[in-house]
Amino acid sequence: MLFPEYRPRRLRQNEAFRRMIRETTLSVDDLILPLFVIGGKGVKNPIESMTGHYQLSIDNLVKTAEQAFKLGIPAVMLFGIPENKDPLATSAYAKHGIVQKAIGALKKKIPDLVVITDVCLCQYTNHGHCGIVEGQIINNDASLDLLAGTALSHAKAGADMVAPSDMMDGRVAEIRNALDENGFSNTPIMSYAAKYCSSYYGPFRNAAQSSPKFGDRRTYQMDPANSLEALREVSLDIEEGADIIMVKPALPYLDIIYRIRSEITLPVAAYNVSGEYAMIKAAEKMGWIDGKKVMMETLISIKRAGADMILTYFAIDAAKELISV
Ligand code: PBG
Ligand code: ZN
Repeated sequence: MLFPEYRPRRLRQNEAFRRMIRETTLSVDDLILPLFVIGGKGVKNPIESMTGHYQLSIDNLVKTAEQAFKLGIPAVMLFGIPENKDPLATSAYAKHGIVQKAIGALKKKIPDLVVITDVCLCQYTNHGHCGIVEGQIINNDASLDLLAGTALSHAKAGADMVAPSDMMDGRVAEIRNALDENGFSNTPIMSYAAKYCSSYYGPFRNAAQSSPKFGDRRTYQMDPANSLEALREVSLDIEEGADIIMVKPALPYLDIIYRIRSEITLPVAAYNVSGEYAMIKAAEKMGWIDGKKVMMETLISIKRAGADMILTYFAIDAAKELISV
């Protein structure tokens, strides 16, 4: 079909036609809201680089989660900011740790809200790495036990799903075993399978106080130049028992989302990370872009690439936008 017989503009001439031929949709069902929880009461510390986001004490966390739930957002992802950090990340798997307490409060007040927990050690170690450090080396196998213990403590506290973000080899299998052996064979694992070593995490590390004190995360997070390696990471995590596969960040890695979507049949999640959020918010503040429109375009592009769900700091704003149309 060639012009003038075929005219693509015919089906763009009104909104009804455009709706009828729209290939991708965004729904509140697709959104997961990441939240930061800290000790204390009545705390709502603004995160400077992430406009509209806060370090929340449990009382305020529950309020924000309720708002999200009422808007139809099915799930939140919890990140804890503990009081104490030490070499063994003790607060990560403490029975009454900040995340463990937050899960209890959320499940009590909003039982139908899905509570996903980020499983990692970096907020809890004094050196800020995602695993156990020996000298300058991150010891993979020594970290597995602690990661599995952390995931199990979240499940015991009532978490609906656990999401390991550490990028240690073999952690999905270790977590699956620990959950299964302790009566949590129904707790799914959302694996940060293709997690890149990205500078887009900057604002998050301020928010979660989790910057590494020495070196960087290049020995465990993926090289941004690689895509075949992402497929290997994904196959490993599937074999080890992952239920949902995540790609992170989202926008600079839409090709990876697309590729993984076409190669696997498990649900695919994309993490629209803090730096992606901060850039849009900053440009909006400068008056350089229409923030709401750019937000919606960004989220639909992640869906179009093949993601089934999106972790995004825009979740509440996007849900409001979706409801108003
Ligand atoms: C660490 C972790 C990171 C994020 C979530 N968990 C990145 C990192 O510090 O390496 C990033 C999330 C974001 O930027 O929004 N396990
Ligand atoms: Zn980490």
